[in-house]
Amino acid sequence: QNLESCPFRGTRVNGAIGTAPQIDDWWPNRLQVELLHQDQPAANPLSGESYAEAFKSIDYEQLKQDTRELLVDSKDWWPADYGNYGPQMIRMAWHSAGTYRIADGRGGAGQAMQRFAPVSSWWDNGNTDKSRRLLWPIKQKYGAKLSWADLIVLAGTVALEIMNFPTQGFAGGRIDAWEADKSTYWGPEFWNGKPFSESPATGDYLGHPDEMVSPDLRWVGGLKEEYRDLENPLAATHSNLIYVNPEGPGGNGDPMDSARNIRESFARMAMKDEETVALIAGGHAFGKSHGAVPAAKIGAAPEIAKIQEQGFGWHNPVGTGNAEFTSTNGIEGSWTPDPTTWDNDYLINLFKFEWEKTKSPAGALQWTPVDKSAPTTPDAHRPGMDHALMMMTSDIALKVDPAYRKICEKFLGDFDYFTEAFSKAWYKLTHRDMGPKDRYVGPEVPAEDFIWQDPIPTLDHEVINADDIADLKRRILGTGLTVSALVSAAWSAASVYRDTDKRGGANGARIALDPQNTWEINRPEELTNVLTVLGGMRGDFNRTQADGKKVSLADLIVLGGCAAVEHAAKAGGVEIEVPFTPGRMDANAEQTDAESFDWLKPVADGFKNYYNDKVGIQIQPERIFLDRAQLLTLNAPEWAVLVGGLRVLDQNWDYSKHGVFTDRPGQLTNDFFRVLTSMDYEWSPTDGTEMYFDVKDRSTGETKYTATRCDLIFGSNAQLRNVAEVYGANDGHERLVKDFVAAWDKVMMLDRYDVKDN
Ligand code: HEM
Repeated sequence: QNLESCPFRGTRVNGAIGTAPQIDDWWPNRLQVELLHQDQPAANPLSGESYAEAFKSIDYEQLKQDTRELLVDSKDWWPADYGNYGPQMIRMAWHSAGTYRIADGRGGAGQAMQRFAPVSSWWDNGNTDKSRRLLWPIKQKYGAKLSWADLIVLAGTVALEIMNFPTQGFAGGRIDAWEADKSTYWGPEFWNGKPFSESPATGDYLGHPDEMVSPDLRWVGGLKEEYRDLENPLAATHSNLIYVNPEGPGGNGDPMDSARNIRESFARMAMKDEETVALIAGGHAFGKSHGAVPAAKIGAAPEIAKIQEQGFGWHNPVGTGNAEFTSTNGIEGSWTPDPTTWDNDYLINLFKFEWEKTKSPAGALQWTPVDKSAPTTPDAHRPGMDHALMMMTSDIALKVDPAYRKICEKFLGDFDYFTEAFSKAWYKLTHRDMGPKDRYVGPEVPAEDFIWQDPIPTLDHEVINADDIADLKRRILGTGLTVSALVSAAWSAASVYRDTDKRGGANGARIALDPQNTWEINRPEELTNVLTVLGGMRGDFNRTQADGKKVSLADLIVLGGCAAVEHAAKAGGVEIEVPFTPGRMDANAEQTDAESFDWLKPVADGFKNYYNDKVGIQIQPERIFLDRAQLLTLNAPEWAVLVGGLRVLDQNWDYSKHGVFTDRPGQLTNDFFRVLTSMDYEWSPTDGTEMYFDVKDRSTGETKYTATRCDLIFGSNAQLRNVAEVYGANDGHERLVKDFVAAWDKVMMLDRYDVKDN
């Protein structure tokens, strides 16, 4: 090497952009505020275009026809089992949707996260890379008009249809992500056979199940004793799986253990027993499992495969590496004699025969009929060859568990009922995380409303105009309701929204319904009072309109908050108008699945300094606070300004004074940040837990204020402190008011898909 002619001194040996160690390697426990800024428009080559409009312009019938044709056009590079790609597309769509978990709304089919690590490279997603590549000609043809997220679900749905299954329809409108998600917690296990805590990242993970650590880490209390205590918010029973291990927990081959895992895991995905059985028995009417080659021979997962693999993973060096040599999960065989037709043979054979354990060529534990005269199933590629039927331990579970068994028996006796149940469950599975029906586009959206869609009546009347708004604001402020109470009602209603599955929000006025109206975080007594007053006002207003104009309770709740913020800003010396967009409607109890809404209840929420230590959370509150800020799609400045504003407006759930760093509560000022950034004070924990703090005057030693971790994080974390300094500066007051109002409006509008784009 001629260093003389090199324009740089030295050579590059180990390091380039992003090479470890980086700050997270050195300080893994820092609060990663930058997670609020993932998947920015800058990463999206289609940003600024309306996806819903683009999708609407598709010739939808042509798209479906193209998909139907593609599904039966076998390619030599990945020959279709039975000449039909349908089953592998159903599995891909199910895996895309099946990561959804109701506890935090993360996962799901909504953004096609299967294209990115870690999901792309989970062992359980083996060979879905092939399924997506097979769809490329369709994606290529429709380009920006068709997202991967929509195409994956559509392909699974059309696959069902070409195999004679009647679906409920399909809605488009899913918008792709453009980068890997670095924030979702998928479980405590790590990859090199050690728990995460003992195992630094080495980057050599290939994706084999035997590289994973024991599956009991996420079962609080241990796998055997406490099946029901799967750590929240997880839904899968094991890292790298969509749901459960098909060979039973830890591969133990025990169907009853498997049933317990299935019940817990599917419940975490908002599925009841009947839906669970319908999905498993329905899904496994199609296709086959692949286990021709032991896992140890299979190559690296896509995220770490060699560059010449071009995004593919799990290279199989045996034979052609595909068709009859395919190894995906490791279990081998099909559940039914006709794996490309919708029929009831899965349940018929499951119940008609006794099944015994056997091993696949890859060494996986599976089940086969004891009775050798049982029907067989054709080889997926070699004509004239037949195989015994196969069941997984998780299939036998449906026969062994008494509650599942009852449902199976009903399905066995009434195939139409089973068909309807699977059809509805499939639609729910694949659309569950899309949020309000306003987001659905395309000609095949079913007219029926389903309870899991959290339906809100369609606007059917004229809405209030600017004069009404001004008048109603005056009237609300004249009722004697405090600024704090009005802000709390509006904020509580709107801030329960989560962008992950687009549930919650002020629209629907569900804050007035069970269970939200009883949550302690919502200050229920005060809330009831606010709702009574606003409810009376709604009645008066609607009665006195001659032209059918109406105002909803949902609108009045938000309007009350807006009026209170304007009042508080003015009291602090800044006049500002808070934007307000009418048109919300009120839902009723019949339109509300109370049990499902209970999942939206925060266990901790720093906006209100709420921390329910009764539920045994062991995570620092500020981390859960960051999570909440992310669910609300806030960036760091929005997060900070909302906290600074809400604190001085006295929003703590228990009316405590933590973080209320002001002598003039109720006025919208930057006092929170002035105190936080001031060296006049020193900060000390009240006890060894370091959850609560005294804020003492440095000169007198007198305790002036008290604080929680969710207050102090804005002075301690470097990124947040720099934002806090902006609002704590001498020119920060007006800026705070302006930015607070903008962020407030953003939160109030988060669920308004009736008036905004997807
Ligand atoms: C295939 C497990 C639920 C649809 C498979 C395979 C496994 C598996 C191990 C074989 C993968 C391979 O080697 O190619 C499970 C378990 C479930 C479950 C443990 C839950 C307890 C479902 C559901 C559906 C579904 C809910 C759809 C509604 C399919 C289909 C295939 C398949 C269509 C065949 C794929 C092909 O032919 O390539 N499942 N599954 N499964 N699964 Fe499931």
